[in-house]
Amino acid sequence: MHFIALALIVCCSVSFSWANEWGYPDLDSNQDEPFPKWGGLCDSGKKQSPINLHVKGALKGEFDSLRFENYDEHQKNLRMVNNGHSIQLSGFDHELTLSGGALLQDFVVEQIHMHWWSEHTINDIRYPLEVHIVHRNTIYPNMTMAANFKDGIVVIGVLYHVSNTPNEAIGSIIKSLGAVKSYDSMNKPVLVADSLAVDDLVPSVESYFTYAGSLTTPTCAEAVTWIVLTETFPVTLDQVNEFKEIEYDQGKQLHNNYRELQSENNRAVVLVEQPEQRSGAAGLTASVSLGLMTLILAGQKIML
Ligand SMILES: *[C@@H]1O[C@H](CO)[C@@H](O)[C@H](O)[C@H]1NC(C)=O
Ligand SMILES: [Zn+2]
Repeated sequence: MHFIALALIVCCSVSFSWANEWGYPDLDSNQDEPFPKWGGLCDSGKKQSPINLHVKGALKGEFDSLRFENYDEHQKNLRMVNNGHSIQLSGFDHELTLSGGALLQDFVVEQIHMHWWSEHTINDIRYPLEVHIVHRNTIYPNMTMAANFKDGIVVIGVLYHVSNTPNEAIGSIIKSLGAVKSYDSMNKPVLVADSLAVDDLVPSVESYFTYAGSLTTPTCAEAVTWIVLTETFPVTLDQVNEFKEIEYDQGKQLHNNYRELQSENNRAVVLVEQPEQRSGAAGLTASVSLGLMTLILAGQKIML
């Protein structure tokens, strides 16, 4: 009898500590709390994320445009869950496919989640919110497999800047947040009542930083091609504070869920900006004069 009781206690305390194996320091309670060690690749990896993205020191890149399929579709069955580390959205009606740019394959959206404050910084500036749109390379059957390969995952990072104008798309998510805030509702998905299209969360994709990095949560797999957009969206601090109220434990709120900055380790960070569109008029003039030249040359040939 005693043995069984002991075994139960051991078993359950072990699984309890597994379930809460990793987390974030509560910077609202203690600003100096050191960032915890998450173990494995999180501590030993050399291509970890997030990093500071700076225009100075980035490599100039030009690629074909990124192509987005179905991102404008209004989602009817989107689910939201408090997984104890973030708020995550999934359950898209159709496959949302990303291709183009420097990507060699098609990538489909698996889930969307957010971090408060931002994980990436741009020119040493932190933003109040970062949305991650997590994509899986379609040559791999699931995220577990994709995480084993360096071309397995693409994450689009969207930064939000402080504004006094509430963000409508974030507002739609917040409307359903109440149902998942408590610890008791953790890991229980709810329907996102407001209609939302994924591209409501994405500003212009003309300009972005891209680099090879990792997941920013354990296992910290180095399987991620990051695409962090340079254009940011507005959000109010009141809106961000709503996310800070979600619980990860009884009575404990997730005040911040961003990982500390990682070493760049001399990785190539490419800043992609679409080449300036030649003005239509100038382009037309050029082709007209080229046409004239051809005519003139042709005429001369006939004359000769
Ligand atoms: C992922 O796919 C692999 C290969 O098909 C399979 O063995 C594995 O069980 C899958 N994992 C999950 C979590 O679905
Ligand atoms: Zn993330």
